[in-house]
Amino acid sequence: MKSTIFFTLAIAALVNAAPFNRNGTTLRRRDLPARSGPVYSVYADVGTTAETWPSAENLGDWNDFLMSFWVSDGSEPRDVAAVWASMDPTLRQTILDQYHAAGKTLRVAVFGQFDLPLQRSPPGDPVEIASAIVDFVKQFNLDGVDVDYEDTDSFSGAKAGTGEDFVIQLTKSLRELLPSGQFLISHAPQSPYFIPNSSIFTEGAYLKINEEVGDSIDFYNIQFYNQGIGAYETCEEHFTAAPSNFPGTTVNDLIDSGIPQEKIILGKPGLVSNPADATVDDAINGFVDPVTLGQCITSQSTKPGGVMAFQFRNANAAWIAEAKGDLP
Ligand SMILES: *[C@@H]1O[C@H](CO)[C@@H](O)[C@H](O)[C@H]1NC(C)=O
Ligand SMILES: *[C@@H]1O[C@H](CO)[C@@H](O)[C@H](O)[C@H]1NC(C)=O
Repeated sequence: MKSTIFFTLAIAALVNAAPFNRNGTTLRRRDLPARSGPVYSVYADVGTTAETWPSAENLGDWNDFLMSFWVSDGSEPRDVAAVWASMDPTLRQTILDQYHAAGKTLRVAVFGQFDLPLQRSPPGDPVEIASAIVDFVKQFNLDGVDVDYEDTDSFSGAKAGTGEDFVIQLTKSLRELLPSGQFLISHAPQSPYFIPNSSIFTEGAYLKINEEVGDSIDFYNIQFYNQGIGAYETCEEHFTAAPSNFPGTTVNDLIDSGIPQEKIILGKPGLVSNPADATVDDAINGFVDPVTLGQCITSQSTKPGGVMAFQFRNANAAWIAEAKGDLP
C-alpha cells in the first residue's frame, strides 16, 4: 500500500514507541459479526484521529475497516493503528460494539510498502512476527489482520522463494493463533504477484501462496494500482484484458488461475490524481473514478467478491456507494 511517504514518516515520528505487554492478552472465544455478501474493505492511514474516527454510520457500505499499519520493524503500531492503541479503552469498546452491531469488522493492516522484513539483517522471522501481530490483535480486541507484504524482490530473481516461504509460514502461524470464524485474515497483494508466468516468478509468488495456504486466507484485497502510468485505468484492464506488462491479472484471469471468485476483492485508490497537490493523492497511478468503476462492475457477468480502497479520507461512504456498482 503506497501511503504518502511524507505523511507516514511525519506521523511515525510522533508515535510513542512504548512496547506493548506481550502476555496481557486473553484467549477467550470470540465470534465475528454475522455478515454475508461482498467485502468492502477500506484502509485508513492519514487523517483519522480519535476525534475523527468514523462511526459505523459514517462508513456507509464499507464493512471492513483497516487501520494502517502495524510494522514488524519494532513490532509496533504506526499511524492509525497507533491512534487506536492510544485511544481511551472505553471509546475503543464503544466503536467496536457499534461496528459489530452494524456487521462491520475492524482490523489492523501489517507491513505496508516500507516494512520489508526479509531485507533486514538478520531477516525477520515469520513465526515470531506472527506471534507479535497476534498479541496486538488480541490486546486491542481486533477482528483480525490484513497482510500487506510488498517485497517484490523476495519473489524474484535470486531471492525467489524466500518471499513465498515467509508469507506461507507467517500465514500458517497467524491462522493457528487466529482461528477461522473468530478472526479474519486477508492479504493485500499487488496484482502483478498473480502473473502466471514461471519466467517472471519462478517460485510462483501469490499463486504458490494461494496453493499452499489459500484455505487459511479469507480474501485478497488486491492492489490494482501503483503499477505504472496508464496501467489499470480502464474497465477492460480489470476484467478482460490485463495491462500488457501484467498478463494474467484480471479478475477473470485470477479465477482461471484458481483464486476463488468470492475472495477476489478489487482494490483501487480513493482519489483521482491531483498534480497541484500530490499530498492529497492516495496512489501514484491506477485511478478510476468511482462512478466509472461502478458502471464497470455492473457491466460484468463475472463480479469480484467486493471492493477495497486506499484510503478512507477520499474513499468515503459516497465513494463506495458509487464504486460497488450493482453489487449488493
Ligand atoms: C507479563 O509481563 C510482565 C511484563 O510486561 C511480567 O512482569 C509478568 O511477570 C508477565 N506475566 C506472566 C504471567 O507471564
Ligand atoms: C513469460 O515471461 C517471459 C519473460 O518476460 C516472456 O519472454 C514470455 O513470453 C512469457 N510467457 C508467456 C506465456 O507470456
